[in-house]
Amino acid sequence: MSGRRAVASPRAVNVEDLRRLARRRLPRVVFDYLDGGAEDEVTYSRLMHPDGECGAARAAGAAGTAYILSTISGYTLEEVKAASSGPVWYQLYLVGGRPVAEAALERARDAGFAALVVTIDTAVAGMRERDLRNGMTELLGGSLPAKIPFLPQLFAHPSWLTAFLVDGGVPRLHNVVIPGEGPMPLMDVPTALARAAVRWEDLRWLREMWRGPIVIKGVLTADDARHAVDEGAVAVIVSNHGGRQLDGVPASISVLPEVVTAVNGQAEVLMDGGIRRGSDIVKALCLGARAVLIGRAYAYGLAAAGEAGVARALEILRTDMERTLRLLGCGAVSRLDRSFVALQAAGYR
Ligand SMILES: Cc1cc2nc3c(=O)[nH]c(=O)nc-3n(C[C@H](O)[C@H](O)[C@H](O)COP(=O)(O)O)c2cc1C
Repeated sequence: MSGRRAVASPRAVNVEDLRRLARRRLPRVVFDYLDGGAEDEVTYSRLMHPDGECGAARAAGAAGTAYILSTISGYTLEEVKAASSGPVWYQLYLVGGRPVAEAALERARDAGFAALVVTIDTAVAGMRERDLRNGMTELLGGSLPAKIPFLPQLFAHPSWLTAFLVDGGVPRLHNVVIPGEGPMPLMDVPTALARAAVRWEDLRWLREMWRGPIVIKGVLTADDARHAVDEGAVAVIVSNHGGRQLDGVPASISVLPEVVTAVNGQAEVLMDGGIRRGSDIVKALCLGARAVLIGRAYAYGLAAAGEAGVARALEILRTDMERTLRLLGCGAVSRLDRSFVALQAAGYR
């Protein structure tokens, strides 16, 4: 596969290199969606590369790390769990309503998913101008005549287009099964998300139903963090959704210290957003995160070269982090603390 060769070459020495390779391989409409800021929420790893969520989960397992599968997935829960040799968590959106979520959670429990991640920052799907201009709606669900103006950008990327067509085109959401209708079409996600806001009372219901560890994703304030812990969360993820939901919200790392203080050791604190280098991971750990999550860093790798690209992204981040630790003269992650970062110089509170 040409993508695999590209990533194996010394050109992909950092995440920005993977981003460049992804940009070259993907049509503009797909790359802009992956790369962009505040926007609508239509995940489709499988549209970036046929390996999709299974390839990403396999690479995560092989690297000894966990993978979180989104509700909005082109592969089934069972396929993704079977692909990974490591822990897999399920991220829930209430798209389709409670009965649809209940069916998915039962499947997740049976398949062996280790934890449930509930995202609380996606109360509505936003509007994104770049996607509108690029023809995202037409690509996902438009008629053939409506697609015509956007076809040149697809034909300019023959390797992506061939893989996309051989893979069956736009996938359905096999984990959002609407009674009497079957798997939800990808095109319906923005409308369904607008009715899928998670409230605190939903968490109580989820806790009773799931009966396993629950992680709350999208926490940006001390109040929300404390509320999540009071509702029984075993961990919170400090996240602004990679800046993809509400423009102008603070960077995750700038609010991490106050969330760590608010949680006061009663739950684990994880963080995501903007992790592109090993030093980004180290800074988050210094400020009290127990672990970090990555979004675009692995998605660029996936888009560039499927599973091999995700493996390369993880390898880049791991070696970069280990180098950073050595340069700091710190022998182990467990010894990192706030004394290693100059908060004011770094622009944090
Ligand atoms: C293409 C794309 C799709 C995403 N889909 C979801 C999703 O379905 N559910 C969710 O909770 N977060 C989703 N996110 C947000 C990520 O989980 C994560 O919070 C964010 O990407 C972290 O920032 P980073 O991309 O800078 O690493 C998505 C992000 C991207 C880039």
